[in-house]
Amino acid sequence: MTTRILTGITTTGTPHLGNYAGAIRPAIVASRQSDADSFYFLADYHALIKCDDPLRIQRSRLEIAATWLAAGLDVDRVTFYRQSDIPEIPELTWLLTCVAAKGLLNRAHAYKASVDKNVEAGEDPDAGVSMGLFSYPVLMAADILMFNAHQVPVGRDQIQHVEMARDIGQRFNHLFGNGKEFFVMPEALIEESVATLPGLDGRKMSKSYDNTIPLFSSAKEMKDAISRIVTDSRLPGEAKDPDNSHLFTLYQAFASQEQSSEFRADLLQGLGWGDAKQRLFQLLDSELGEARENYHRLIERPADLEDILQAGAQKARRTATPFLGELREAVGLRSFRTNTQTVAASKKKVSKGARFVSFREDDSFRFRLLAADGEQLLLSRNFADGKAAGAVTKQLQQGGELDIRTEGESFGVWLQGACVADSPVFADAAARDAAIESLKLALAPQQD
Ligand code: TRP
Repeated sequence: MTTRILTGITTTGTPHLGNYAGAIRPAIVASRQSDADSFYFLADYHALIKCDDPLRIQRSRLEIAATWLAAGLDVDRVTFYRQSDIPEIPELTWLLTCVAAKGLLNRAHAYKASVDKNVEAGEDPDAGVSMGLFSYPVLMAADILMFNAHQVPVGRDQIQHVEMARDIGQRFNHLFGNGKEFFVMPEALIEESVATLPGLDGRKMSKSYDNTIPLFSSAKEMKDAISRIVTDSRLPGEAKDPDNSHLFTLYQAFASQEQSSEFRADLLQGLGWGDAKQRLFQLLDSELGEARENYHRLIERPADLEDILQAGAQKARRTATPFLGELREAVGLRSFRTNTQTVAASKKKVSKGARFVSFREDDSFRFRLLAADGEQLLLSRNFADGKAAGAVTKQLQQGGELDIRTEGESFGVWLQGACVADSPVFADAAARDAAIESLKLALAPQQD
């Protein structure tokens, strides 16, 4: 079976060396695997959330498209497109917006960070927060669910968004699937082996720290940036500590095993920092020089790039258009001509029962069991991984005798001698016992 891999790149900047090593290069390598079906796109609708400078948006889309192609992306193998060329995506965003819980989106890190900042500054909590920022995860869910991606390579800061895509997709499946799973549940893919590159000052290479090394500008600019890498003050002839040198980390990210160990030995032997920088430049120039030439050739032919992206959009829409058609049908946006179902016949056969909603908390996984009316029946304990949490929800779903132990005005559900989830605290024992009854009902196998 092929694995569908999908990721988006927000088009607000010019790719730098860190983007290349951390995202572009591994994505291109992954796309060459025989069982991979890769979808890579320019997230230019997402860019509008962060940037209101049209020239910058325009420039960045062009630069990012040229970068990926110059770096060796094979558009015959993958589907490479601009998000804004796929009208099905904003349409799906709306369908998902209508099932996404506002409470879920309230918990999104990026939104919460803005609110926290406002509160700290004594401002209105939502000051400066656009609906675009608030709904950002829904648009991203549409990107992912539109193409039923299995794996979504992202940075750690995006894991929560992929989990929200699962949540929203699951809810849509539950409401409209009638037993059919429209959406595949995507997994965030965090490549542990690809290093986040350090920047000139040793912090993570990032445009916001102004510590980046340019990728495809010119050899001279790359050299200039390298000359600004911060090192310690050891003189030529003094032994350097490769393991505490981000210059060495940068070198390693582009070198072969042998090159790295040679460089390490030379640093230990007292190689001067000036020479070390020269060596890093030579390595990068030989690794990236040819791609840089490709890049400049592409940038000078924007019409060709436009054609490539239009072809990519057509390819993507061959999947998106019919799939969105199905989804429109499912929610009831049907043609009058073909709609033969009577209202009575279309009444849901399956009653909407309780549902599990999983979420992530710091480094652990939890879930809630919500009643049909959205009230919380249970909140799980913390599990080390999603699998463990999933196994527990599965066991609970299977029904059977529940081991419920009351404790004061609340109760816990136990499995194999351990408490796996707790109820809220109720006003009195009667309310608690009523909740136990609704829990049993909610988890009883459905009869229809
Ligand atoms: N939000 C992602 C980022 O900032 C970009 C993105 C948009 C994305 N849509 C996506 C990534 C879908 C993966 C899948 O990095």
